[in-house]
Amino acid sequence: MKLIHYRSVCTMVAVAALLAGIAGFSRITVEAQPRGKAVYEKHCVECHGSAGKGDGPAAMFLTPRPRDFTTGKYKIRTTETGTPPTDEDLTGSVRRGLHGTAMPAWDRILSDADVADVVQYIKSLSPQFATPPKPVVVGAGAASSPASVARGQQAYDKLQCGKCHGTDGRGTGAVTTSFEDDARQPLPAADLTEPWTFRGGATSRDIYLRFRTGMMGTPMPSFADAASEGEMWDLANYVVSRGRKPVWSMTADEIVRFYAQQDAEAKRNPAKRGKYLVDTHLCSICHSPIDEHGRMLPGMYLAGGQVLRLMPWGEFPTANLTSDKETGIGTFTDEQLKQSITRGVMHDGSRMLPFPMDWGAFSAMTPDDLNAMIAYLRTIPAVKNRVPPPSRSWLPVHLWGKFQMLILHKDQPFVIFFGNAGTKGAQ
Ligand code: HEC
Ligand code: HEC
Ligand code: HEC
Repeated sequence: MKLIHYRSVCTMVAVAALLAGIAGFSRITVEAQPRGKAVYEKHCVECHGSAGKGDGPAAMFLTPRPRDFTTGKYKIRTTETGTPPTDEDLTGSVRRGLHGTAMPAWDRILSDADVADVVQYIKSLSPQFATPPKPVVVGAGAASSPASVARGQQAYDKLQCGKCHGTDGRGTGAVTTSFEDDARQPLPAADLTEPWTFRGGATSRDIYLRFRTGMMGTPMPSFADAASEGEMWDLANYVVSRGRKPVWSMTADEIVRFYAQQDAEAKRNPAKRGKYLVDTHLCSICHSPIDEHGRMLPGMYLAGGQVLRLMPWGEFPTANLTSDKETGIGTFTDEQLKQSITRGVMHDGSRMLPFPMDWGAFSAMTPDDLNAMIAYLRTIPAVKNRVPPPSRSWLPVHLWGKFQMLILHKDQPFVIFFGNAGTKGAQ
């Protein structure tokens, strides 16, 4: 098993490095390619990596991950699927950023010349650009009207967009609910009622182009030839019509109604609410073992066995939270789980330290949320994975570590191990 080394506040360092990069820009005037490379090295490496493979120091903490430019696969194109984007597509994405992701809008930081140069540079990273782009002929479109929207809804059914996006565009009744991109990272299907999260913009033209050309590297396919030009524009108008108001544009009354509706939905479907809580409270990130790229080991969601070394305290393998009766939480009572999550008391009565699991922060969770979380955990398919107990460091090591921290002011590294420390399939 190898290690990935991080300083204790690794995320913050990544973000600080990023901000430093953004703040400290300067102009470079040499020829095109070296100029593009210099812009890249100043502003893009933190996320996209020095060789453009999408593996910069901040990449591990981002979903979706930064693009791997060496694959030449781009989501936001006006070109046929399988062909590279045009220069305008790329400059558009760099200038605007990709909404709903960590990819910033660079138009306020970089000059047009910088953007043009950096685009030439990222193109040089993939042989895909040897093939000329094949731009889609975009017609004049169709003005939106109730009739067009109604026809668009029929096209939505005919093309079975609902299989992934749900009948209501929000995942209700979707056949598949968990997707992965080509880098094997989780990637939810867009919520079509929240157009401000669309990577490539929310006009009917943008939407037409996304399903007409497909989003390469993701499960979102191209629907070229599946419907007539007219049907596709009606469909784009239908998707636009599904967009709801964002909270920041709502009146006070609308906000109250919106959240009341969300609360009612959460009560009707506690396991769905629970999944949301488990994923956003990072339970799944700690409690699932990962590979050297920080990707969850297949089939090991919440199966425990990721080891966190926190010096001078020791090594802490995360618990198996699947419903397995021998090695998971299958036989724990709700009360035992609540005690662990909010009071740091393990099922066998032993006490956790206040870290690595930040149970103190979970102690203020409402009873409804706690119940929803547990309801969801009970639905996780059993994975037999016997995880060893934590090993506290030997007393002299502990004291020496504390001496270094308190007297010598030396930070102790926080290490995340990859691989599974548990014994899979163990009886
Ligand atoms: C804070 C992290 C971050 C930085 C800094 C960053 N990017 Fe990105 N970039 C991303 C992420 C994340 C994605 C992937 C978003 C997605 O897949 O939806 C991305 C995607 C892209 C894409 C792909 C667009 C497409 O159609 O698929 C391009 C092009 C791009 N970035 C260019 C750049 C350039 C050029 C720079 C530097 C000027 C830069 N990025 C800096 C995070 C970053
Ligand atoms: C196989 C599953 C699947 C099908 C079928 C599918 N989508 Fe998607 N769609 C996705 C996924 C996954 C994403 C998220 C891609 C991303 O964020 O990179 C997405 C994203 C989108 C987006 C957001 C675009 C953006 O700029 O971010 C729109 C709009 C969209 N789909 C519309 C449609 C429409 C309309 C149809 C039917 C013609 C359709 N989708 C069919 C899986 C699917
Ligand atoms: C920073 C990593 C981390 C996060 C985030 C985290 N945990 Fe833990 N959790 C651990 C570790 C490590 C243990 C093992 C106990 C120990 O050694 O501290 C543990 C133990 C537990 C236990 C005790 C199991 C037993 O045997 O009694 C439960 C239950 C649990 N976690 C649930 C959760 C839930 C639910 C969340 C999200 C709200 C969560 N954890 C978030 C690291 C984490």
